[in-house]
Amino acid sequence: MIESCKVAWSCPSNIALIKYWGKKPGQLPINPSLSFGLQKARTKTSIEIARASTHKINFLFERKKSSFEKRVISYLNELHYEFPWIENYSFLIESENSFPHSAGIASSASAFGALALCLTDIDWQIKGKDSSEASFFEHASRIARLGSGSASRSMYKGFALWGKTNKISGSTDGNAIPVPWNGTHPVYNDLRDAVLLVDSAKKEVSSSVGHELMNGHPFKESRAKQAHQNLSDLLQIMKSGNRDAFAEVVENEALSLHALMMSSNPSFILLKPNSLKIIEKIKLFRQQNSIPISFTIDAGPNIHLLYFAEHVHKVHAFIKNELVEFLENGRWLDDRLGEGPEKME
Ligand code: DP6
Repeated sequence: MIESCKVAWSCPSNIALIKYWGKKPGQLPINPSLSFGLQKARTKTSIEIARASTHKINFLFERKKSSFEKRVISYLNELHYEFPWIENYSFLIESENSFPHSAGIASSASAFGALALCLTDIDWQIKGKDSSEASFFEHASRIARLGSGSASRSMYKGFALWGKTNKISGSTDGNAIPVPWNGTHPVYNDLRDAVLLVDSAKKEVSSSVGHELMNGHPFKESRAKQAHQNLSDLLQIMKSGNRDAFAEVVENEALSLHALMMSSNPSFILLKPNSLKIIEKIKLFRQQNSIPISFTIDAGPNIHLLYFAEHVHKVHAFIKNELVEFLENGRWLDDRLGEGPEKME
């Protein structure tokens, strides 16, 4: 047993192209999902443990007490069976986000991703494990999944797949795996994401309630079928590099996610009038300029405008000239496919 140690990790947020919506017991998804990790939207977390007769957890977010502490404590409590050493230590956990609080960006993926990386790192130090790097990140992905499903996909550089599909060997509901680089055309190596901030108010319905409403949803079966089909199409498209077909599938996923919310019982709508105006503008710009831009949307009103590096100037001009008026305080975040998590000294 070690007396004390401190580890720190920076973990990216991710944006799903094929959406996870609805789960089975054990935080397992009803369908596979595929995402890519962002470069700038990240959470940095450090965990310092010291052997103690009374197990205590102190959590600070950006140097202050935060309401997230409760969720962190219950997460650690649930992990006792995975990491029995937890109860022999006291914990100081400090966390900060690289993106502004009020951006309305989902932070649970990067937050639980960073926590899971720190805990898995400590676990491996305590147990003196020395296996491959790949098995470290798969283990961390499984631990992250238990905190937040989408966090399982934040462990890798590039694209990540979570959930069993017969299209990729080694895929599983238990953790995400990286989509092999040789399975994607080089045009996708420099995918960009402009996060257009429409409304930062707290969502009326949380993702966890949304997931729950998929139980008993009239379209549950057909949604699972659709997700498998869209995933299979997207994997093909990403191999071939067809950017128009990419837009079709990705937008179908985003709008289907919101259609599921609108057809839940009770129903809810997270899109705002300005989200719809931006969608219209993106479609028109694509048609008029033949530039392969597309959009995806999380469980919220913000729009992720996806484009390729070669069109950066034209797309930035489009945002400034035609979209800024629909954004809250004109704000947007210029992000891109990132480098994956990073261990910090
Ligand atoms: C719409 O991962 O936030 O972003 O597992 O309950 O923490 P929990 O849910 P969460 O759900 C994310 C839903 C989504 C789609 C996606 O990221 O695939």
